[in-house]
Amino acid sequence: MTALLALDQGTTSTRAIAFDAALVPRAMAQIELPQYFPAPGWVEHEPEDIAAHSLRVLREAMDRSDHAPADVAGIGITNQRETTILWERATGRAIGRAPVWQDRRTAALCETLREAGHEPLVTARTGLLLDPYFSATKLAWLLDNTPGARAAATRGELCFGTVDSFLLFRLTEGRVHATDATNAARTLLFDIRRGEWDEEMLALFRIPRAILPEVRDCASRFGETRLLGGSIPILGMAGDQQAATLGQACFEPGMIKSTYGTGCFALLVTGEEAVASQNRLLTTIAWQLEGRRTYALEGSIFMAGATVQWLRDGLGIISQASEAGELATRADPAQRVHLVPAFTGLGAPWWDAEARGAILGLTRASGRAEICRAALESVALQTADLLDAMRRDWPAMGHTVLRVDGGMVASDWTMQFLADILGAPVDRPVVPETTALGAAYLAGLQAGLLPPPGDASTHWRRERRFQPHMARPEADRRKAEWREAVARVRSG
Ligand code: G3P
Repeated sequence: MTALLALDQGTTSTRAIAFDAALVPRAMAQIELPQYFPAPGWVEHEPEDIAAHSLRVLREAMDRSDHAPADVAGIGITNQRETTILWERATGRAIGRAPVWQDRRTAALCETLREAGHEPLVTARTGLLLDPYFSATKLAWLLDNTPGARAAATRGELCFGTVDSFLLFRLTEGRVHATDATNAARTLLFDIRRGEWDEEMLALFRIPRAILPEVRDCASRFGETRLLGGSIPILGMAGDQQAATLGQACFEPGMIKSTYGTGCFALLVTGEEAVASQNRLLTTIAWQLEGRRTYALEGSIFMAGATVQWLRDGLGIISQASEAGELATRADPAQRVHLVPAFTGLGAPWWDAEARGAILGLTRASGRAEICRAALESVALQTADLLDAMRRDWPAMGHTVLRVDGGMVASDWTMQFLADILGAPVDRPVVPETTALGAAYLAGLQAGLLPPPGDASTHWRRERRFQPHMARPEADRRKAEWREAVARVRSG
């Protein structure tokens, strides 16, 4: 029996899923990943945890699915993007902890570069913005603040990589230092149209070329691991949001998926055209196969599921996440409470690092039901902001269906409100693990077990469609109120 193993290394956990050759999940293993917050705005991971947890979950998922290494046709790696790791080429040991994508320590450097007028060129080359979210300024920070690192890097003794690249290096015991085009596209160092590292960006961020990984297609023979009791090829690689786009079978231009995890990431596939955003969305590589790139417009929101987590752990008004949806159904329809979850600033399309969260419109009659409803509504209203920006950037988008995944989509109430506010159908798939599914798909594609995108939409099945019922004037009124609330928390 043939299996495909997906390794999904995310911000809060590392999981492996064994799929069969028809992409049906058969077994799963998962370990939580600790985060470290050594200073305000800093978020770090321990790379040794990432490596050790990854090996453990791969072994467990293989054991639980009763597969031997010889049964595994390939491994697909997918990962939290942008998180930046620097390690010794000779030993594979990381040089310190990894600044996570959420880490804001380089905000001042980004501001300086922006004030110096560099953003237009950065955006034209990389599709991104000068924001601490991306890897380049984190990498420059590591090189400047780790004793001896810059000199060692210039001598070629260090390797840089995002999590995919570090895991590949460790799984192949140092034989392969490579990444894929989707992960490279999140570094601020990669020319997304030419598909190569960009000399001007390397000079701007002062990054020595010697530390960069080789960039490959998402489906490729990356190497093989002998650490799982036999030799298993590593055949697929993509950033987690891009993998989810493949897992959702969003293969055609105009298709959109939105993943609701810690944050929310919506990707609109635009095909071979890299659409330059006029509305502060990101232009990114959705996948690269046989040297050909397919692009997407991306909207990234920092707080989605994390807002519900805050209701539970910060405010303590619910004891488990699922209660938020139940309470929302009981909220007073006459009250207009808004929660703007700018806890770590606002992401797309606002990109306001200094904005902070607020709850607005409280009265003496407001209680936890209204606050929970406002929290869930904020996720849908932020998605509406993204889709409106996408429509302005790419009028060809037309009427669309949103394919959703991630922990929050279990809430029927939230998904119905999302459909209502968007005025568009929202589709929830049967296999909610779309990120792992996308990674397994890439490995299966390279193994010759699965057809290329376009022929392969058969792996996607809808569990439920939420149709919009809200009258448009009502939805428009709510969106206008939301924008007023956002304007109240903006820093500028
Ligand atoms: O860009 C960051 C994103 O890749 C993180 O995803 O699922 O680990 O929160 P996740």
